[in-house]
Amino acid sequence: MKVGIIGTGFVGSSAAYAIVLRGVASELVLVDARPELARAQAEDILHAVPFGSPVRVMAGDYADLAGARVVVLACGVNQQPGETRLQLLERNAAVFQDVMGRLRPHAPGAILVVASNPVDLMTQIVLRLSGLPPDRVVGSGTILDTARFRTLLGEHLGIAPQSVHAYVLGEHGDSEVLVWSSARAGGVPLETFARQTGRALTPEVKARVDDGVRRAAYRIIEGKRASYYGIGAGLARIVKAIRDDERVVLTLSGFDGNLSGFAPVCFSLPRVLGADGIRTTLVPPLDRSEKSALRRSAEILYEAARSLSL
Ligand code: LAC
Repeated sequence: MKVGIIGTGFVGSSAAYAIVLRGVASELVLVDARPELARAQAEDILHAVPFGSPVRVMAGDYADLAGARVVVLACGVNQQPGETRLQLLERNAAVFQDVMGRLRPHAPGAILVVASNPVDLMTQIVLRLSGLPPDRVVGSGTILDTARFRTLLGEHLGIAPQSVHAYVLGEHGDSEVLVWSSARAGGVPLETFARQTGRALTPEVKARVDDGVRRAAYRIIEGKRASYYGIGAGLARIVKAIRDDERVVLTLSGFDGNLSGFAPVCFSLPRVLGADGIRTTLVPPLDRSEKSALRRSAEILYEAARSLSL
């Protein structure tokens, strides 16, 4: 499967690297406004191929994206220390106007995977500019936040994150919602598992986990300028689900006009992902506070979208 990545900075190059190591594509085309960067990233990642799977890696321009089944958009600016994701909106909206104009003629049939922040609104912009149906525009959304939630819960409970089933929904950002009420570990409700294993989920533990998820990016950016390994692996996961028509449930950003009670804007919900993109959007059971927080999160995004007439 041919995959294109537009934007080969921290996130795009990490996604490319993860795709090569996981063998998720047979051909990878890296495009960047800085051709010399794309060339250097391609040459560097090409040298990882012998340790991963056979993938043809090349730097190119938009015309080289022809035939790509998936194009990942990781272009634009990223947060500076203390900056919120929403504060990137105007700058990245301008970048995406340019990028989408260049992309559309060459890969009209590709599924577009959006990673740039604020990812929910960038997904909304791509949806509008591409003219594609909503199921073919997939935002990475809270796939990383859900992974963080599961990782921290697994650490506390002493189990692998793969054995934790918990969601983060809404904005990939400060208003995101950690869904505790339906979280399960090893197939049993979280509280039951915690009680049986003597690892109580006290209010202090929950607050620490919430901060660990919600503020992770700020800490990482403070320490190393950008976060990219987690999201890079998440993007490779999305691409694999499309390549293999997995129909896996991931928390992804997308648009669903049939959601009653939520502002009409892109935000993350559990979505079934396969070869043709998003197949189904799910609204999981939420307690009263979670439902209110999710509505609020969508409202915050909707107000930000209106500020740019999206
Ligand atoms: C983060 C970036 C990808 O959450 O928004 O690390």
